[in-house]
Amino acid sequence: MISLTQAQPATVATDALVVVLARRPTDVPDGRTGPVPLGDVPDDVVRLVESSADVLGLTGDPDVVHRLPATRLRARSLVLVGAGAADTPESVRRAVGAATRTLTGLASAAVVLPDDEPATLAAAAEGALLGAYTYTRYRQGPEKDTAQRSGRPPLAEVQLLLGHRPTKTETRSVQRAQVLAEAVHAVRDLVNTAPNDLYPAAFAEAARAATKGVKGLKVTVMDPKALAAGGFGGLLGVGQGSARPPHLVKVTYSPARAKRSVALVGKGITFDSGGISLKPPADMDEMKSDMAGAATVLATVVAAARLGLPVAVTAWLALAENMPSGTAQRPSDVLTVHGGTTVEVLNTDAEGRLVLADALVAAVAEEPDLVVDVATLTGAQIVALGRRVAAVMGTDDARDDVVAAAAAAGESVWPMPLPEDLKPGLKSTVADLANVGERWGGMLLAGLFLAEFVGTTPWAHLDIAGPAYNAKDPYGYTPVGGTGMGVRTLVTLLESHG
Ligand code: BES
Ligand code: MN
Ligand code: ZN
Repeated sequence: MISLTQAQPATVATDALVVVLARRPTDVPDGRTGPVPLGDVPDDVVRLVESSADVLGLTGDPDVVHRLPATRLRARSLVLVGAGAADTPESVRRAVGAATRTLTGLASAAVVLPDDEPATLAAAAEGALLGAYTYTRYRQGPEKDTAQRSGRPPLAEVQLLLGHRPTKTETRSVQRAQVLAEAVHAVRDLVNTAPNDLYPAAFAEAARAATKGVKGLKVTVMDPKALAAGGFGGLLGVGQGSARPPHLVKVTYSPARAKRSVALVGKGITFDSGGISLKPPADMDEMKSDMAGAATVLATVVAAARLGLPVAVTAWLALAENMPSGTAQRPSDVLTVHGGTTVEVLNTDAEGRLVLADALVAAVAEEPDLVVDVATLTGAQIVALGRRVAAVMGTDDARDDVVAAAAAAGESVWPMPLPEDLKPGLKSTVADLANVGERWGGMLLAGLFLAEFVGTTPWAHLDIAGPAYNAKDPYGYTPVGGTGMGVRTLVTLLESHG
């Protein structure tokens, strides 16, 4: 929970008073050293930072958090967190998130706002909430805790020290932050859920549960029978090796005053073993995150409804488990995607594009003004952009709109091309298309494959293979495990598409 308060930093009663530090600019030689505490910081704290910069090694570097016993404050402790140059809302979001992330088990914290810009308030609110996340479903209790993979509950309450009575705009900005953070947390929870608990039918149930009590949402679940009747050969082919059959879930939000409509399509492979084209064992566990796209579009449509955005949104969750077995599809199988396109499956590990093809055709048939798909689609995405930057491809305008929305939301998304001359690489000797071509440019080739199924609808494809899952150390507001990357971009995109 988060609240805005008039309380003052020196007198607020809290477990932890959070102060953001910026690196001291070197181009202003004022004789002082150490980082600069930002915002309306009590003089005692300023002096403390100056006098202890040396001994504590305070630099203002991002992701460095110091927690000290508080003196001359009502707070029980003082938390100093670096924000680097602190020159963007995202640097504030990360700094405040890094602070709240470390405060597990505490009841309350209060944040000194770095400045009085509206964007800073929003970023601080989002960062505080995004950092206050832990996943404890499978833990017996905090005594089983191991270092950073904390089993303790997240920080419970955050106050933002506004210094005046909040305006309507300020209150609304914090409410939006709360909705966004809950959406991001919902994605993280789904990604972190073990795949023995989150299989396609369970995911469909989770979608029903997530929409319960949210006004204006309707859920339709297509089970394997309905998929067979509708000719959804991609989902059925990918799912046929699993004892837990595929489902296609459609969640619609259609407010009366909507002028425009957006379809969101998510890859929901609840576990990707590769199938008969089996993946190597190393890191295969990370493939429980192969449903992050579906979780993202689900959380986004729920957030759109909760925010009452004036745009119609339909989320499509393409859910299947990709397993090797006696019933699994084989390399060289030919399947027929919804709408009739035939695909030769040359590699069963290129399964995401098969389930997405079905869902994209269904989504586009409803003639939305824009379709955006989100998928942990290719290892090549990670080769190209690493683990923290997502890729976006698509028709020019749609792609650029996603880049702009991501920039506004503080997420790292970079535009990538769809070179026509790679397309012959997807030729099959027997079917309309093959599901793989040569290795080089694999991310772009996957994008070109999807392009075959969107017709002339403005379309963007987000490949979040790297950023969706953080296998290593936490940073900023990003925990270990599911990250929820993409939700903020999509909600921001919908806000600009009303
Ligand atoms: N789910 C994977 C992509 C992936 C890899 C996501 C690593 C996150 C981390 C996808 O289904 C896959 O296996 N893609 C193959 C495609 C290849 C066979 C053309 C890949 O990228 O290796
Ligand atoms: Mn795969
Ligand atoms: Zn996959």
